[in-house]
Amino acid sequence: MKYPSSLLSSLSVALLLGETTALPAPQNQNNAAGNEGLVAGPPGASGELRGPASLRGYNPSNPLTQETTVIPTSDFELAPGQSEDADVGLYLDLSSVRNPQPIRGSTDAPTDPGPRTEAYDRLNSDLFAPPGTDKGDVPNAKWPMGISHNRQGLRSAGWARQQNVNELPVATAMAGVDMRLEPNAYRELHWHKQNEWALMLNGSVRIASMDEDGQSFVDDLQAGDVWFFPAGKPHSIQAFENGCEFLLVFDDGKFSEDGTFLVSELFARNPRSVLAKNFRTDLQALEKIPDEQLYIFPGTPAPQNISEQNVTGPAGSIPVVDSYSYHLSAQEPYRVPGGTVKIIDPKSFPIASNFAAALFEIEPGAMRELHWHTTSDEWSFFISGQGRVTVFDAPESSRTFDFSAGDVGYVPVPDSHYIENTGNETLVYLEVLLAPVYNDISVAQWLGLTPSQIVKDHLNVDDAFIDKLPRTKQFILPGDKNLLQTDFNDEPL
Ligand SMILES: *[C@@H]1O[C@H](CO)[C@@H](O)[C@H](O)[C@H]1NC(C)=O
Ligand SMILES: *[C@@H]1O[C@H](CO)[C@@H](O)[C@H](O)[C@H]1NC(C)=O
Ligand SMILES: *[C@@H]1O[C@H](CO)[C@@H](O)[C@H](O)[C@H]1NC(C)=O
Ligand SMILES: *[C@@H]1O[C@H](CO)[C@@H](O)[C@H](O)[C@H]1NC(C)=O
Repeated sequence: MKYPSSLLSSLSVALLLGETTALPAPQNQNNAAGNEGLVAGPPGASGELRGPASLRGYNPSNPLTQETTVIPTSDFELAPGQSEDADVGLYLDLSSVRNPQPIRGSTDAPTDPGPRTEAYDRLNSDLFAPPGTDKGDVPNAKWPMGISHNRQGLRSAGWARQQNVNELPVATAMAGVDMRLEPNAYRELHWHKQNEWALMLNGSVRIASMDEDGQSFVDDLQAGDVWFFPAGKPHSIQAFENGCEFLLVFDDGKFSEDGTFLVSELFARNPRSVLAKNFRTDLQALEKIPDEQLYIFPGTPAPQNISEQNVTGPAGSIPVVDSYSYHLSAQEPYRVPGGTVKIIDPKSFPIASNFAAALFEIEPGAMRELHWHTTSDEWSFFISGQGRVTVFDAPESSRTFDFSAGDVGYVPVPDSHYIENTGNETLVYLEVLLAPVYNDISVAQWLGLTPSQIVKDHLNVDDAFIDKLPRTKQFILPGDKNLLQTDFNDEPL
């Protein structure tokens, strides 16, 4: 039988002190640590590891030091809008105010003397000083890729960082990966259980794949283009001479980049004699196969002429209608006041039969209108700029999150939300749904298509409000860049 070492040391304390009582040994009142002589400290150590019993509970010989935690108003600055009514909930730009405080509305609202990391508070002003309308318990909807582990490729060939349910527990339906390949580097030949939808973020790449019928596929993509590899189909990804970065989205929140089926492991994990038989060769031919995963590794430059890498068998190529790529960078965006959107779903990209995405560009001060999705969670990625999102969940919770480039957002179905550009540059972000068609319910259109008597009876609004309700989907609504505007009466819808 084995005793835990802590029990054994208590036993030796009892023996040393000549005690006969049952374990554990009572703490010696005079010896602060209760284990003097047993713990040999390193050279230079001093003091006791534990304090004396006299510190337990109330004791008049333990007076308080009455240090102030009050921060004088002269010691901090308020951002524009910070003293407005909390329910108005203006965006608070804390990026450059001195000693930002979690204040909304009245200036005798609470301050934060610390401990704190100001950089987080400045980046998350809607968590730090929430709008008065935020309420209750909404699961965290934000994961910055900047605090994901960055898995390094071999010999500086690139890196990959991911968000899955481990990082963002609410994100059960989808997971994402941000991957960098240095010039000519590969993401190793592999396959996986999940479907993979990808958006090129920078640079250019050659991708290739094949299917069960022996039809092959190869294409070259650049920033703004999309690819899709169906579950189980093996694929290759190689950066061109200027390198690349891309975003992968998987239809399973538990997906992990570290759990894919790699060709190097396939070879390493089968008997060499079986490999020799399978590939009609001798053992010697297998002597130099990799003995560790390649994952991301340097490559020789791909020939620029794609025809040289168009390997086809008798089954030919994957037909264009089922193509694994879509050159979204060349699609004309749909323009509305306040921004643009490009939709890509199975109507234009049929192979990605369960992925519906929208790439939005929202001008400063404008916002993606209040809406929800009827059948799918939303996984989103912020590509440039910054914005905020309030997630409303039934019956009575809402929470506002701030996002900037490199952040993942996640809104469970059918929670309502909007995305307001809170910065000075165009906000570019991607919405991904698991749906056969991109769809949403616009709150404004819903009320516009509801008889006005019903809307008035519910919301106590006047005719001017009713007259502005649209009957079409707006997608984006323009706004003032300074974000302090609260009256849009003069603007026709
Ligand atoms: C691509 O990378 C280059 C080099 O860092 C950078 O200047 C450029 O802004 C990036 N492009 C995009 C679309 O992010
Ligand atoms: C590859 O070859 C096939 C014909 O075998 C052709 O249909 C297809 O367009 C080619 N693909 C590329 C990328 O050149
Ligand atoms: C590209 O490669 C194909 C196949 O090897 C060849 O027929 C064609 O001439 C090449 N094109 C150019 C522009 O070199
Ligand atoms: C936007 O620009 C204004 C004026 O230059 C500046 O004060 C503010 O901090 C900027 N806001 C952000 C979020 O960058």
